[in-house]
Amino acid sequence: MKRSSSSSSSLYHWVMVMVVAYTLINLVSGNDDEMIIVKYDDPTQVLLQQPYRTAFHFQPPQNWMNDPNGPMYYNGVYHFFYQHNPREAQFGSGNLSWGHAVSYNLVDWVYLEHALNPTDPFDINGCWSGSATILPDGTPAILYTGVDSQSREVQNLAIAKNPSDPYLREWIKSHHNPLMVPVDGIGTRFFRDPTTAWQGPDGKWRVIIGSEINGHGTALLYQSDDFVTWSKSPKPLHFSDATKMWECPDFYPVSVNGTNGLDTSVMDTNTKHVLKASINMDNYMRDSYVIGTYEPETDEFVVDVDFKDKSVDLRYDYGVFYASKTFYDSLKRRRVMWGWVLEADSKLDDINKGWAGLQSFPRSILLDESGKQLTQWPIREIESLRTEEVNIQNKEIEGGAEFEITGITASQADVEVSFHIPNLDDAELLLREWRDPEALCRIKNASAGGKIGPFGLMVLASDNLAEHADIFFRIYKGNDKHVVLMCSDQSRSSLREEVEKTTYGAFIDVDPSQNLSLRSLIDHSIIESFGGRGKTCITARAYPKVAVGNAARLYAFNYGTESIVISSLSAWSMKPAQLSPLHERTKSQI
Ligand SMILES: *[C@@H]1O[C@H](CO)[C@@H](O)[C@H](O)[C@H]1NC(C)=O
Ligand SMILES: *[C@@H]1O[C@H](CO)[C@@H](O)[C@H](O)[C@H]1NC(C)=O
Ligand SMILES: *[C@@H]1O[C@H](CO)[C@@H](O)[C@H](O)[C@H]1NC(C)=O
Ligand SMILES: *[C@@H]1O[C@H](CO)[C@@H](O)[C@H](O)[C@H]1NC(C)=O
Repeated sequence: MKRSSSSSSSLYHWVMVMVVAYTLINLVSGNDDEMIIVKYDDPTQVLLQQPYRTAFHFQPPQNWMNDPNGPMYYNGVYHFFYQHNPREAQFGSGNLSWGHAVSYNLVDWVYLEHALNPTDPFDINGCWSGSATILPDGTPAILYTGVDSQSREVQNLAIAKNPSDPYLREWIKSHHNPLMVPVDGIGTRFFRDPTTAWQGPDGKWRVIIGSEINGHGTALLYQSDDFVTWSKSPKPLHFSDATKMWECPDFYPVSVNGTNGLDTSVMDTNTKHVLKASINMDNYMRDSYVIGTYEPETDEFVVDVDFKDKSVDLRYDYGVFYASKTFYDSLKRRRVMWGWVLEADSKLDDINKGWAGLQSFPRSILLDESGKQLTQWPIREIESLRTEEVNIQNKEIEGGAEFEITGITASQADVEVSFHIPNLDDAELLLREWRDPEALCRIKNASAGGKIGPFGLMVLASDNLAEHADIFFRIYKGNDKHVVLMCSDQSRSSLREEVEKTTYGAFIDVDPSQNLSLRSLIDHSIIESFGGRGKTCITARAYPKVAVGNAARLYAFNYGTESIVISSLSAWSMKPAQLSPLHERTKSQI
């Protein structure tokens, strides 16, 4: 992912001073290429000073993070890499490096040295995004984009130096680099983000690279016999004239009506393929996908419903979520997805906090039984963080009412609720001009009363409700069936003026005569919500001024005129995940 920004070294020094003062992090570092080693003091102290730092979402110790890179499970260890600017809390394309962390459970992480730094002519202006592939002889290989000495985007290979090192701490860049360069009409700045490679029935490796050709978003296809010499296929895997540049493409099989994920090279008749593209057009960033049928013999990919525009394309997440990447977890036989969650705070606040960027909590991903969309769900391991629990059953919320859910830490929580709608007859008509659900959520915000809905959760709320973020549903009558709208409204999430308070929304393809479920993961400044058992996901950021830490509250509400029943609600306080550098951990803690 590419974003323009400026930097200055005096600012950098000032930032460093602020970081130490604000977050009690001691920097033990040396020269210019330094590996930054950080030491945390008491994490609760850090949280006191840092109300927006998260407790169970992945973040580096400090500075800027963007795309997830090269996630994999290898020899009993999960690896996660990420685009990191080790020097400051702002994007800095030229300094982008691969941060690296390892885990045994995808929840607790150990920070390691950076895996890739811009050191060679083929990546001297940045080690950008890429993916890991485990080769048949067991060698983990990374394909990544380097920005070379002529500022061209090229594709490079790095191999784990010692595959028997459980943490794969050292990576060797191939002396054949760069392996792929932008020629034949590919723009030098439109050629990036190789996927995990897959092997066809002819034994050849295939990989796709994000591009824009003649103004159209394109997934260029390359093939190789030996993973080193790659040739471009005459035909791209897919392209769309409805979009521009495709960044961070992803391409993988999903099982039809299966409950397991599939390894990237698996091809069989009970399989569909997903192609995802990250599209940053008109200042609007989204991860959109299509589902289709892939013929490995011919490399034809026939999509069921093609990309069209942002209001109708399928999206992983309808909130702030970009440049995602999946991997196959062979231990738990599932496909797991990570996505970059940007800040919505001001740039100056990012600098003052000393960090910017989160990763979504890892989600397992499956094809919905309709075959028309994917479903996502936080991986089960998150449940190990649950502590205090409250339960509510069969509770009616009358129109115009809200009630507080007490007994848990509302700033650090996992909430699952299922709503029953006793009477659907009086649903309002969905007007023709309300085709764009996000626009509809802005008009019909949480305080705009309705008939069936808005009803849902108010999170990160202050006790006088001066601040709250709202995740809610509304039910409309469409042409031949009911239509369910899901919104995540941040318009009153902070009394601070300088914060972006975007409202997001999407329709969910569910039948509201069945109970309607909502799950929200709340973690200080991030709210990840899953509607209809993961059919529609919306991630949002909120930076409350008052509703921080123990002052945050949680409510359920119904501002429609029709009563709604909470069929069941369970909410848990969450323990913080452990994230720390290796030298602070004993083997038993890892
Ligand atoms: C890396 O960051 C430093 C400090 O912010 C800056 O001076 C330098 O220009 C950056 N290097 C590149 C190649 O962008
Ligand atoms: C999956 O199974 C359901 C229930 O048996 C069926 O209705 C649906 O058509 C199946 N989906 C696909 C894509 O075959
Ligand atoms: C929310 O909707 C109400 C009623 O339609 C409107 O008065 C108010 O301005 C809206 N609030 C925001 C922040 O858009
Ligand atoms: C739906 O909610 C109603 C009311 O709480 C409850 O009686 C019913 O068991 C729920 N149905 C399902 C399938 O959970």
